[in-house]
Amino acid sequence: MKNLLVTGGCGFIGANFIRHLLADPDFEGRIINVDLLTYAGNLENLDGVAQAFPDRYVFLKADICDRAAMDKVFEEFLVDAVCNFAAESHVDRSIVAPDAFIQTNIVGTFVLLEQARKHSQRLSRFHHVSTDEVYGSLGEGGFFTENTAYRPNSPYSASKAASDHLVRAYGHTFGLPVTISNCSNNYGPYQFPEKLMPLMILNALAGKPLPVYGDGLNIRDWLFVEDHCRAVWHILKNGRPGETYNIGGACEKTNIDVVQTICDLLDETAPALRSGPRRSLVTFVTDRLGHDRRYAIDFSKLQQELGWSPCESFESGIRKTIHWYLKNEGWVKRVQSGEYAAWVKKQYGEAP
Ligand code: NAD
Ligand code: TYD
Repeated sequence: MKNLLVTGGCGFIGANFIRHLLADPDFEGRIINVDLLTYAGNLENLDGVAQAFPDRYVFLKADICDRAAMDKVFEEFLVDAVCNFAAESHVDRSIVAPDAFIQTNIVGTFVLLEQARKHSQRLSRFHHVSTDEVYGSLGEGGFFTENTAYRPNSPYSASKAASDHLVRAYGHTFGLPVTISNCSNNYGPYQFPEKLMPLMILNALAGKPLPVYGDGLNIRDWLFVEDHCRAVWHILKNGRPGETYNIGGACEKTNIDVVQTICDLLDETAPALRSGPRRSLVTFVTDRLGHDRRYAIDFSKLQQELGWSPCESFESGIRKTIHWYLKNEGWVKRVQSGEYAAWVKKQYGEAP
């Protein structure tokens, strides 16, 4: 793996992955980071990386849907492996405006697969990063396994499911060395504050309402982003071509539990609010359309085949995350300007 194309490397997980990989002595190659810098892409997430690794890191602003641009990237940088993170990733946005999800998540993945096919002689791996949401929603019991039928419920998860099918089909039909990972909810540094954890941390810090959808009892499985990055690297290196691997945190929490934990930790570590304990900021709001009730992951395949398990506990992971947002006020301020303010106003009826 000499020239690894990482798409979406300026987003939350992609940026953590690039930092992780360049610090891992097990990876000796070069990373070519292709990112369109949409509202969710932020060059600041990779501050210092180009300086620290001048020969091993390249950034290119480009759209994965642009065939000519992708052709140039594959040719010019002799791409021999791909790790595809680039996507529109927020369920609420997919409900309001699905077009970009169809374009980037489905067409973009298709364009990359076509390039992979064209350069298949050189290609050792095409890894596609996906979500557990392709499996739909669980009742009170059970777990998603790699054999669970796809039943995506939101435009976001349907677009990811479509891209997973394309990746699998290119592996089957053209013999491309593809792998897919389906991961649960990530949290950690650099996450854009439209997602539950950073949104709640920043609102709770500022003494603003904490908008919990529905009854707050929807369950998500939480994984610290660093654990996800380690899992993806294991699969890139040693995953069997044609296989899918589920990745999870063995950490099921109701949303209200997550929000109350954030409130309590901020009461402990940040300046107190005049209005009293932060739990009083919780506001139950209209539920998300088609809101999936519960996700839970069986990741025993990844554990048994590749020896991966999550390392971070929820207690330490959430403390690290809160600490990061407290320490990175400048990042937060810059991210909260511009387009983000318009989204928050539209979604929650107030400016951030
Ligand atoms: P993100 O929204 O933070 O980042 C997405 C990145 O992709 C951004 O940098 C954006 O600029 C870039 N991008 C978007 N459209 C592009 C295009 N057309 N061409 C090139 N770049 C483009 O997302 P994330 O949370 O880091 O998620 C990364 C991947 O992991 C996604 O594929 C997502 O479906 C998957 N995933 C995310 C989670 C999660 O909890 N965040 C969980 C499981 C799987
Ligand atoms: P989110 O972070 O958007 O991830 P996903 O929808 O991919 O799981 O949401 C996580 C959970 O938190 C989900 O059940 C929806 C809920 N949620 C709220 O209750 N309020 C909010 O403001 C947001 C953004 C999410």
